[in-house]
Amino acid sequence: MNAFLEVTGLRKEFLMHILNDKQIDALEDINFSMEEGEIIGLTGKSGSGKSSLMKCIYGTYLIGEGSVMYDSKTFGPIDLAASSEHEMLQIRRNEMTYCSQFLQVIPRVPALEVVAEQLILEGTDRSSAIDQARSFLDRLGLPEELWDAYPSTFSGGEQQRINVAQAIISSPRFLLIDEPTASLDLKTKNVVIQMILDMKTKGTSVLCITHDEHTLNNLADRELHLKNGRIQEAAVA
Ligand SMILES: Nc1ncnc2c1ncn2[C@@H]1O[C@H](COP(=O)(O)OP(=O)(O)OP(=O)(O)O)[C@@H](O)[C@H]1O
Ligand SMILES: [Mg+2]
Repeated sequence: MNAFLEVTGLRKEFLMHILNDKQIDALEDINFSMEEGEIIGLTGKSGSGKSSLMKCIYGTYLIGEGSVMYDSKTFGPIDLAASSEHEMLQIRRNEMTYCSQFLQVIPRVPALEVVAEQLILEGTDRSSAIDQARSFLDRLGLPEELWDAYPSTFSGGEQQRINVAQAIISSPRFLLIDEPTASLDLKTKNVVIQMILDMKTKGTSVLCITHDEHTLNNLADRELHLKNGRIQEAAVA
């Protein structure tokens, strides 16, 4: 049986052209595998390479060396390190969602529309997608008067809730999520944790970067700890 995800010998370096091609070795020999339905918490101090690793898997960063075997629904087993742009786009459209630490939205699109967008793209009819978006924003405690407002002017915590809601509303097969609870209060953190656990029961596998002990302990099945671009330990959370 193939692992859901198997990362082998992954390296990523950055050449800083403005610093006379100074080389930064962000990831050195990363090896781990993930089972389907697992929630892995990716930890490590700032600059240890967490976001870079996630971006290598999602294809935002080209991988220098190594392989990322993913048992995709669309193509079957595929090495994401060697996949074409077309294959990567198909995978992103059909099964893999990346949620960055910061909200990136088009200006002048109301919150409800931003959250409902993915469902509509996947063919859910508009009114039912908007209803689901309402229910998500309600659970996340976003004040109702903001639902028709533009998220570009929202506070950090409000934007984070929009960001998380838009990524998880459609229950992707594989969710890559960077610091989903960083600027949330405990009550809202717990709602986000519960929402991700609900996705797990529907079969979603999750790689979640977090600095937050509470999130790690209540969400993750397993912890991967990065230190200086290498995986240090794989403890049970
Ligand atoms: N696009 C890039 N160009 C050059 N260097 C980069 C780039 N992306 C990341 N790096 C470098 O790679 C290293 C790891 O960065 P990364 O963003 O992966 O860390 P992180 O663990 O996510 O940190 P944080 O917890 O602060 O988000 C850092 O030294 C960073 O400066
Ligand atoms: Mg980061």
